[in-house]
Amino acid sequence: MKYIIGNWKANPKSLAEAKDIVSAVKKISKNALSNNIQPVICPPYLYVSSLIDNKNTKLQFGAQDIWINNDTAETGMVTASLCKNVGLKYVIVGHSECRRRGDDNETVSIKLSHAALNGLKVILCVGELKRDHNGLYFNQVAKQLRESLSNFPENKISNLIIAYEPVWAIGEDAESAATPKDFYEMAMLIRRTLAEQFTKEKAFSVPLIYGGSVDKKNAQSFIDVGSDGLLIGRSSLKAKDFISIIDKTIISKNKIK
Ligand code: PGA
Repeated sequence: MKYIIGNWKANPKSLAEAKDIVSAVKKISKNALSNNIQPVICPPYLYVSSLIDNKNTKLQFGAQDIWINNDTAETGMVTASLCKNVGLKYVIVGHSECRRRGDDNETVSIKLSHAALNGLKVILCVGELKRDHNGLYFNQVAKQLRESLSNFPENKISNLIIAYEPVWAIGEDAESAATPKDFYEMAMLIRRTLAEQFTKEKAFSVPLIYGGSVDKKNAQSFIDVGSDGLLIGRSSLKAKDFISIIDKTIISKNKIK
C-alpha cells in the first residue's frame, strides 16, 4: 500500500473550500484504492465532522496532532478517543511545526504510543533542521527516531508509518524539496535504526514516506525510488494537484510492477 497524505495545517480558509477538495478527491479514491493507494486527508479539527463520511471510507481522514492521554479535563486538547469516535484513522505526530512549538522526543514518544494503543495509525515525522558536510544529520535523525520510538509497543508496529521530512524542505520558505537520492539514503538509515529496536522483518514492514515541498512535478520521483507514499502540505490544498500526485503514484507503481 502507498499512502498519499494531505496535511492541510490551518487551511483552507473556508469549510466550503474544504468540501470542494474532499468531494474531488473522493471521486478518484475508489480507483486509487484499487491500485493499492490510500488517500488520506488531515484537515483542521474544526472541519472534521463536516467532511468525514463514515459510510464511504475509501478516502480516509487523520488528525494533525493529538494530546498525550484521554483525560477529559484538558482545555484546548483533542484526545485519541475523540479522534477515533468521529472516525479519524490516522494522526500525525512529531511534525516539525509541533516540535518547534515544544514537542520534544519524549513527548512525541508518549503521543505515539498512546495514539497507537488507541487504535490510530500514527505518522511519525522525523527530519534534520539542516544538512552539514560531515553527514552529522544522519545521527540527528537516528537519535530522533530512537528516542521517539523508545516506548513504542511492538505489537502495534502495523500502526506505524514514518515520514522523513527534512525541515529545510518544508513550506514556502523551503530551499527546495529533498532529492530522491536524499530520501533513499535516509530510508536506509531509518530501516537500520528500526532494525535495532524491532526485528529486521518488522523494520522492513514499516511504510516510509517522504514529505517536504512535494508537488505534482517531483512526486513520482520519490515513489520511483521506493517511497511508500508522500506527506503533502501545500499541494494537498489544490484538488487538481493532489489528484495528479495520486495519478503519478499509480503510474510509478505500475512501472515498478
Ligand atoms: P509542504 O509541507 O508540502 O507545504 O512543504 C509538508 C509538511 O509540512 O508536511
